[in-house]
Amino acid sequence: MAEYEKYLKSVLITEAQVQERVRELGQQISADYEGKGDLLLLCILKGGVMFLADLMRHISIPHQIEFMAVSSYGKSARASSGHVRILMDLASDIEGKHVLIVEDIIDSGHTLDYLSPQLEARDPASLAICTLLSKPSRREVDILVQYLGFEIPNEFVFGYGLDLDEKYRNLPFVGVVDLDVYQPEE
Ligand code: IMP
Ligand code: MG
Repeated sequence: MAEYEKYLKSVLITEAQVQERVRELGQQISADYEGKGDLLLLCILKGGVMFLADLMRHISIPHQIEFMAVSSYGKSARASSGHVRILMDLASDIEGKHVLIVEDIIDSGHTLDYLSPQLEARDPASLAICTLLSKPSRREVDILVQYLGFEIPNEFVFGYGLDLDEKYRNLPFVGVVDLDVYQPEE
């Protein structure tokens, strides 16, 4: 038995379902941004990394990728504190570019509520959001999402980029954490 299986209550989204949806999103993004100018995919680390890697393979138009790391969580916290910090900023200028934020999940919405105005201030040609997952029932601030993979219920999930205290991001599916079994580190 693999170690992660102990913490897995159920598989919420299978690998095949993820892959099918990511392909659709890639095709939709390609069509929408075709002929518009420079497209820049801005991946929010670390959770968005697997989504970005798969998504960009399905985007057929030329584009650039960049990374930003933000944190709104204390160690082992299960809910966003609302205190967002930029841990690593973009390495290049986004002025005049069509920026598409690639995020793993929108939960309270605080992360993107903080980040979006900061990016807007740098004068991109446009700014849009592509998130694999969204938990609408947890939202504390409204976020306008242009590309959404899946709406999910209020469960703590892991896999496909999402971590359980920094581990199991490599799993190819999205699973629900069994919080009765999983003992968070202090
Ligand atoms: P928000 O600021 O509350 O919208 O939180 C967004 C961030 O919280 C995401 O980028 C994730 O890193 C993290 N997060 C929210 N829900 C989960 C979850 O169920 N599993 C793992 N990480 C999560
Ligand atoms: Mg995270």
